[in-house]
Amino acid sequence: MVDNTASVVMDRCDQIGMISSEEGGVVRLAYTPALRRAQDLVANWMQGAGMSVTEDNVGNLIGHYAATHADARTLIIGSHLDSVRDAGRYDGVLGVLVGIAAVEALQRLGRRLHYAIEVVAFADEEGVRFGAAYSGSLALTGHAAQIDLARCDAAGVTLEQAIRNFGGDPDRIMHDARRPEELLGYLEVHIEQGPQLEARGLPLGLVTAIAGANRVNVQFRGTAGHAGTVPMELRQDALCGAAECVLLGEELARTTPGLVVTVGQISVTPGATNVIPGEATLSLDLRHQDDQVRQACLAELHTRAKAIAATRHLVVRWEELLSRPAVAMDPQLSNQLRRAILATGVTPLELASGAGHDAAVMATASAAAMLFVRCRGGISHNPAESVEEEDVAAALAALGQLLEQLDRE
Ligand code: GLV
Ligand code: MN
Ligand code: MN
Repeated sequence: MVDNTASVVMDRCDQIGMISSEEGGVVRLAYTPALRRAQDLVANWMQGAGMSVTEDNVGNLIGHYAATHADARTLIIGSHLDSVRDAGRYDGVLGVLVGIAAVEALQRLGRRLHYAIEVVAFADEEGVRFGAAYSGSLALTGHAAQIDLARCDAAGVTLEQAIRNFGGDPDRIMHDARRPEELLGYLEVHIEQGPQLEARGLPLGLVTAIAGANRVNVQFRGTAGHAGTVPMELRQDALCGAAECVLLGEELARTTPGLVVTVGQISVTPGATNVIPGEATLSLDLRHQDDQVRQACLAELHTRAKAIAATRHLVVRWEELLSRPAVAMDPQLSNQLRRAILATGVTPLELASGAGHDAAVMATASAAAMLFVRCRGGISHNPAESVEEEDVAAALAALGQLLEQLDRE
């Protein structure tokens, strides 16, 4: 059903990839003017595909393609348009644009299905600006209470204010929750962000589960002082404590099968060559497929961070920003998706996702399934992200097949 639309999707990914708050790279953080420009462009494409377009109170962009009858359930096809810093063109964007292309194909045929389709671009998947992620899917699934509106970005703007500036209404977020019985399912198409599909020469993957994850802000506080006058044994150097913590995380991950630990941000104050660091704050990202292992490792790191602080006469503050369990994809919807992929002549690789996705949150309110698309070298969160048009065509074919199957059943 979905035909030669892959080149349109590729072209649109390029167009969104041009929208950035910084020149020479892709930076589209949540609730920024750059994301606004991307959402406005995508809203036009949604309208062109015959969808009515709204934005909810948390800032999710939603295109609605009506069913044959009014009280039909809804299949949500979602992903995100926000990005990390210095991102690629496909993480998140591909899933939204493939969803629109699938609806566009229906519209060209004048088709309505027995269920409505909504293409959703979630407001904040990456969680780079405010630390915690998934405000969009948390709102949609009725977990507004888990969104910390008081959190500030680096410039001191609260999430609450950012949502208002973006056009949303934080006081009304809870009213946008969907009732599980309204939803037929949730489907997310996403680049794999890993090397497994490429290694096996396969274009498509079927996601079995999404790893659990924690994000923690760890702050070491010591005493700032003169770099030339304070003897080494009298120092309380916050950065040296943080550095030990970084390497401990690496060691724990290297010695624990399946565990990944990343420190992607570190800030030091006062931040001068000739001043002993008085404060060092690092971001800790920890993930594992097994929640018990993840929680045990997190507790171990916390204990060891406290021990580092005690030895070095520092104070450590441990602030958990995000804790999400591992989530299995829905067996029935995944089985439907497997059948759809096989019907297009492709054998999908079944694999777990190490990356987080809104699908993990959507799974709390709906059957959820994910389709992975091969990406070059498994590279993502990097401008070198790359996808082949023929693999996008394969994803479109599988999605078209799935929409037909669901319509028949
Ligand atoms: C999002 O890409 C994440 O996995 O953090
Ligand atoms: Mn990402
Ligand atoms: Mn993503």
